[in-house]
Amino acid sequence: MKTEHHHYYHKKLSTAIKLARPTAYFILLLLTYALGYLSAPSSTSPSSPSPPPVTSASSSSTHHPPILHLVNSTHLDHFRVTTRCGDPIHPDLVRPTLLRFLFNGTSPFENFPPEHAAKRLRRTRVKGWGSKGAVFENLIRRVKPRTIIEVGTFLGASALHMAELTRSLGLKTQILCVDDFRGWAGFRTDRFKDIQMINGDVLLYYQFMQNVASFNATESIVPVPFSSGSALMKMCELGVYGDLVEIDAGHDFYSAWSDINRGYHVLRPGGILFGHDYFTAADNKGVRRAVDLFAAVHRKKVTIDGQHWVIESS
Ligand SMILES: C[S@@+](CC[C@H](N)C(=O)[O-])C[C@H]1O[C@@H](n2cnc3c(N)ncnc32)[C@H](O)[C@@H]1O
Repeated sequence: MKTEHHHYYHKKLSTAIKLARPTAYFILLLLTYALGYLSAPSSTSPSSPSPPPVTSASSSSTHHPPILHLVNSTHLDHFRVTTRCGDPIHPDLVRPTLLRFLFNGTSPFENFPPEHAAKRLRRTRVKGWGSKGAVFENLIRRVKPRTIIEVGTFLGASALHMAELTRSLGLKTQILCVDDFRGWAGFRTDRFKDIQMINGDVLLYYQFMQNVASFNATESIVPVPFSSGSALMKMCELGVYGDLVEIDAGHDFYSAWSDINRGYHVLRPGGILFGHDYFTAADNKGVRRAVDLFAAVHRKKVTIDGQHWVIESS
């Protein structure tokens, strides 16, 4: 009888232990999650510029678009586009850092062009828009940049012009060319038919690389062949900042708005943000609306140099 009882209690105990184990794991998991949630950072890093608080009262200046009267500091919090930017790395480290991170440490110009593309490229094929505007020389002479970030490169007209300017001024400048090198939907239909395609993959990137090689600029230009959003955020994480940041990618409001905001995150304090097409009517004046809204939110002044807009960080 005693043994039976003992056996019965022992069985009950081991069933209880079996049931309790997963429950304990579950509680532990919940606790870990709750602790992680409570200890997560809730604000941007010190190096991420965040917009100043604008209240209905403080935004009542006639310079601001009417929409700002409806905006309070909580709404402006949504304008943050990143949470962590790295400490700035030394300008000498910008090129090796990007080569290491983007291309496993090997320059993409090594063994260029590859056989399958070589026969489809022209020695040079450059076309840009306002790519030699006076703004480039004015800003480069003034800022003497070590790092320029260009958002929107296409065939490299403006990048090559900047490379030429910095070379003639004896500057040690790296020009980082952010472009997904897809152009825009249907861009080959008329003027750019000669830029060839392989199985629907347009050779814009290769033609840009070929142009850079033909202009002997492979040591001063770094291609960053990704979408502007991911490229700029990664630069910011890596601590890669520009003394000049040029915005000339998508011209609709949403593209220009996000590029300008992200571009501002990779602008070193004291640097200058600028871009093309302030006056173009394209996309219902998308660029201009984005620039003006950004300037109003950050209380910055927009100055005009030819077709370009210019915003100084300080
Ligand atoms: C107007 S062209 C740049 C022209 C160049 N700055 C010049 O003056 O020679 C715009 C470029 O932006 C690129 N682009 C557009 N949206 C982009 C995005 N979200 N990310 C990366 N590149 C983009 C296109 O591939 C195109 O090459």
